Amino acid sequence: KKLDMSIGQLEKGGYPHFMLKEIYEQPKTIIDCTRGRISADGSSVTLSGVMANKERFLNANRIIFVACGTSWHASLIGERLIEEMCRIPVEVEYASEFRYRNPVINKGDIVIAVSQSGETADTLAAVELAKERGAFIFGICNQVGSSIARATDSGTYIHVGPEIGVASTKAFTGQVTVMAMIALTLAHEKGTVTPEYFSEVIRGLQRLPELIERVLESDGRISELSKIFTYSRNFLYLGRGYNYPVALEGALKLKEISYIHAEGYPAAEMKHGPIALIDSEMPVVAIATADNIYDKTVSNIQTVKARGGKIIAVVTEGDTVVRAIADHCIEVPPIIECLTPILVSVPLQLLAYHIAVNKDRNVDQPRNLAKSVTVE
Ligand code: G6P
Repeated sequence: KKLDMSIGQLEKGGYPHFMLKEIYEQPKTIIDCTRGRISADGSSVTLSGVMANKERFLNANRIIFVACGTSWHASLIGERLIEEMCRIPVEVEYASEFRYRNPVINKGDIVIAVSQSGETADTLAAVELAKERGAFIFGICNQVGSSIARATDSGTYIHVGPEIGVASTKAFTGQVTVMAMIALTLAHEKGTVTPEYFSEVIRGLQRLPELIERVLESDGRISELSKIFTYSRNFLYLGRGYNYPVALEGALKLKEISYIHAEGYPAAEMKHGPIALIDSEMPVVAIATADNIYDKTVSNIQTVKARGGKIIAVVTEGDTVVRAIADHCIEVPPIIECLTPILVSVPLQLLAYHIAVNKDRNVDQPRNLAKSVTVE
């Protein structure tokens, strides 16, 4: 029988779009990203780029992330991971803002540039500026040998393979995974986390591939759910703590590929403005996994409900409280809080994907967007 597939279809490995293929690749890309870096018995994490510069990291006054787009969202999670585990002050900057505002950079500061492509013009310029001012530059890139990777002093590749879909998916989860490994490596050296916490995070990283597989099983349900919201004009995404950046990323995915206006907000900030937008026409995606701020998130969700908003909640398996309030629930398996962003981002990628497909959008190459932005 003749193989009746174009090269394009073959490259997509049987998936209708690269984006879907890349979403489904995540269990494997997390394995590739952690391979050789976490010992099989789960007792240690070794990132050679960090260990080769151990003293610099341990004596760092401050870490500044510079990035754009999805990589900037991943950096916000990196900030939470490093501050929580290593007690080093962290700032996160849009590369385009950083480079033009005469930033204060001191010796002893480490600048971490995060870029999937390694070619984003603003991020590269931010790296060059920080370098001129004497900072040590570390890269978190996907493209081996890219301009940003070459301009840095050291770094860790995410190794998730080529990402073709313009909307970043597997690069985001790979970036967060690398950031968790950086935080663990430093925390171990500094003694800033308990041995129990350290092993629980490692165990979580090792289980991620299997847990992401479990999340992907909800795809059919998410596809059904997406049909209800295909014609919504606006979306609000709410999250707190580690999942506030995931709310931003979920909203970005939706706007990029479906062209629906979406905003991400820290759930508690809603009362300072966005709550005015809530009515029965406003779907609200609320991230309410079982974390140390769960009760607060629940009351934010109740506020939305009381104003007639339609709630799609991402909850931990077995949740009953939010389930009783929300219109729709998507479950993710339990995992240590600091790794929830990796699991929660997957259903949000799928939701954006299906809504865009329902609207017949060009999912892999959305209008006006480029995979790598090499000009200002
Ligand atoms: C473009 C892409 C985004 C990406 C951003 C930063 O806008 O469409 O998906 O997040 O650039 O790209 P980088 O390669 O630096 O991570």
